[in-house]
Amino acid sequence: MKLEIYDTYEEVSERAAAIIAAQIREKPDTVLGLPTGETPIGTYDRLIREYESGKLDFLHVTTFNLDEYYPISPCDVQSYRYFMNQHLFLHVNVPMDATHVPEGSAEDADAACAAYEKAMREAGGVDLQVLGIGRNGHIGFNEPGTAPDSLTHKVTLTQDTIEANSRLFNHISEVPTHALTMGLGTILRAKKIIILITGKNKQNALRQLLSGDADCPASVLCGHSDVTVLCDRAAAEGVTA
Ligand code: PGA
Repeated sequence: MKLEIYDTYEEVSERAAAIIAAQIREKPDTVLGLPTGETPIGTYDRLIREYESGKLDFLHVTTFNLDEYYPISPCDVQSYRYFMNQHLFLHVNVPMDATHVPEGSAEDADAACAAYEKAMREAGGVDLQVLGIGRNGHIGFNEPGTAPDSLTHKVTLTQDTIEANSRLFNHISEVPTHALTMGLGTILRAKKIIILITGKNKQNALRQLLSGDADCPASVLCGHSDVTVLCDRAAAEGVTA
């Protein structure tokens, strides 16, 4: 696992966008795995700027998002489909039908998860997976205790995650209690992975990841051969690269 520490969130976003852009330039039909959350917004902003300046083409790119609340309508402003449309997809030329988010409105969650795995396989697998991390070390919605070989599945969110995400809702009671998420095994199948860890409230998660703490779901990344951790000084206090 490679560790890169930058002074600021902006520099982490710059570096992440540069890695994603280089991947797309090298392989125009790249399959990207993408996260939601506050952390990747700066990265998405920079990718949009690259596209707008004519330096990046998403026409042949396919995307698979990590997770989605369940149940939720794709039109709901709290849905991750809505988030991705607003923060990236509507601002670049990726064809909408090449963007995939787990189907939060599916009647049969298990069938929707199996179909998601099949779609990823048929697309040739994820070339570059971008990850954020929860303060409890979750990646996607894989909370502590998730099996390392898990595939896309329905989960019950932990109270910690519900509390962390409630900042984006009017009231904590509005936060969905379930989600569909790529499993840890799904994530590990990506050919290359970058994980963005910024802010003081992620210090503990970063330490747990770097020490391979089994209570931290992100620690499964220690077993992958091409992972780069991009973090800022606020998250990396006391850590040396
Ligand atoms: P954040 O979320 O980027 O909003 O901190 C990350 C996560 O919970 O996975």
